[in-house]
Amino acid sequence: MLSPKFWNRYFKVYDILNLVIPYQELLITVCEKLNIRRGEKILDAGAGTGNLAILLEKKGARIIGLDFSQEALNIYESKNSKAEVLLADLTKKLPFADSYFDKIVSINVLFLIDRETRKKVAKEFYRIIKPNGKIVLVNLIEEFRPSRIYLEHFKKIGKQKGIIATVIQIFKFIPASLKILYYANKLKKTGQQKQILFNYDEQKELLKKTGFRNISENKKVYANQAILNSALK
Ligand SMILES: C[S@@+](CC[C@H](N)C(=O)[O-])C[C@H]1O[C@@H](n2cnc3c(N)ncnc32)[C@H](O)[C@@H]1O
Repeated sequence: MLSPKFWNRYFKVYDILNLVIPYQELLITVCEKLNIRRGEKILDAGAGTGNLAILLEKKGARIIGLDFSQEALNIYESKNSKAEVLLADLTKKLPFADSYFDKIVSINVLFLIDRETRKKVAKEFYRIIKPNGKIVLVNLIEEFRPSRIYLEHFKKIGKQKGIIATVIQIFKFIPASLKILYYANKLKKTGQQKQILFNYDEQKELLKKTGFRNISENKKVYANQAILNSALK
């Protein structure tokens, strides 16, 4: 078992992603897809440190940030003391009434859950979302290579700010990237986090089999390392 100190450090390093352009773009795309109206009740399933939730809150939505990591939720709450967080495991029955949420969003979470259990999680999502409610899912796909996200970042910085800024950025990212590799390795070794990456059409199929309709075509996001699908109940 890894200590709370480990998870605390891990999620602090995780937030370096906020500086990475493909991650920023991913959050913006998801916000647009959700098409938020003021007062809507939205579940961010696997909210982590609240990066998306905070953007959605700014648009006037009421967000419930669910995660099974207290350390991640602590960081989310340190950014927004009014955040509504829920410490819960998505693989268990969720403590919400049927049709409770207007919308549900989940970014890069289901790929950490095995295929059979994902089906149960999707059924729970279906149960707790309102009829006509929208769901937006993003998950990493099999071809996922973290380096491609950084390459895309540096390419964009290069275009926007020129070669000197890019070189400075590369040096800035080296310590953080080493830390991320260290944590990823530790998670792998201790078997604390398995990655069951999605096949190209798997997310779409999962939504379809669960009963969702109006499923969008696959949209490649996050430097083409993940797929976004939206659908309606
Ligand atoms: C890769 S992070 C993504 C966080 C956030 N959605 C984002 O895009 O920045 C995955 C998150 O899912 C959470 N998670 C993984 N499995 C979970 C489960 N079974 N129940 C609840 N949260 C889970 C982890 O604790 C972590 O915060």
